[in-house]
Amino acid sequence: MKIFVPPIKSQGIKTKLVEWINSSVKDIRFDRWVEPFMGTGVVAFNVRPPKALLCDSNPHLITFYKAIQNKEITPSKVKDHLTSEGRLLLKSGGQYYYEVRERFNNQGCPLDFLFLSRSCFNGMMRFNSKGGFNVPFCRKPDRFAPALITKITNQVGYISQIIDSGNYEFRNQDFKNTLKEIGSSDFVYSDPPYIGRHVDYFDSWSEEEEIILNQNLVNSNVNFIISTWLSNKYRVNDYVFSIWSDCFISTKEHFYHVGGKEINRNAVYEALLSNIKLESSISNKEMKSRITKNESLLTTKQKTYEIHSQLSLAMDDGSLS
Ligand SMILES: C[S@@+](CC[C@H](N)C(=O)[O-])C[C@H]1O[C@@H](n2cnc3c(N)ncnc32)[C@H](O)[C@@H]1O
Repeated sequence: MKIFVPPIKSQGIKTKLVEWINSSVKDIRFDRWVEPFMGTGVVAFNVRPPKALLCDSNPHLITFYKAIQNKEITPSKVKDHLTSEGRLLLKSGGQYYYEVRERFNNQGCPLDFLFLSRSCFNGMMRFNSKGGFNVPFCRKPDRFAPALITKITNQVGYISQIIDSGNYEFRNQDFKNTLKEIGSSDFVYSDPPYIGRHVDYFDSWSEEEEIILNQNLVNSNVNFIISTWLSNKYRVNDYVFSIWSDCFISTKEHFYHVGGKEINRNAVYEALLSNIKLESSISNKEMKSRITKNESLLTTKQKTYEIHSQLSLAMDDGSLS
């Protein structure tokens, strides 16, 4: 499966997990795909359902995708914007980044959001207590080389094709409002922030909110998946066994590097929790017993993914990552 990478970056992006998520939902029938926490949209844009409601509390994400949908942002406008702003960035030795950041924080232009997302430190998305984007510059004044501009322009082109070929609605709202309007023929993929992990103006999460999410999903009679983590080298995510105790669980091992060194390669078990039995999922009770007995926490075989039927696109192979 070719993974389509969206033009906006974020630390919580699920690019490495979309193949697994897509394969987990391949046999599930639904009328509408709903994401209360769409983030960069990488999951929906790879599942590519014909109909979707994609929401987030961060208005800049929604404004960006709505602007692509209504053609306020087109690949050629992206190319022109990044070329001209990239030149000013280079000429200023990088200082211009901070002018764009200030302009974005005053005016909220979606093209500036894209510029910042692709030239900030580590592709992070973080907002201060007043809702202002506050990530520093990546310190590469020549960041917008022609090859990168072409790549981003193509990514915007693909997103535009995906959005145009389906019936997609983007909404800036809290997850509680999204969950008020779901029905039994919807399928809900939820990727909330991890409890206590990031605290930022648009992105903080508490145990209380996780309980509300659980209750609203369970009471609405929809089929759902939630993404979370099960364990890392140091601890187990106890919420999986308290709040989500009635769910089936499917896990996948995921490695990340600290400081890029092989010796610091840490494993985390990512989990998909669902009220329906997914391929390779086991009961929550069984997982708990495995943890107690120190047995393997893996439920998925490596790389045997099949995908859900999805909107097809005329993509070439060149610019998907
Ligand atoms: C883990 S990220 C989702 C990542 C996404 N699946 C991706 O791959 O890009 C969580 C998202 O939830 C949003 N969010 C946080 N609190 C929210 C709330 N109360 N209601 C709706 N969205 C919220 C954040 O803005 C963030 O985009």
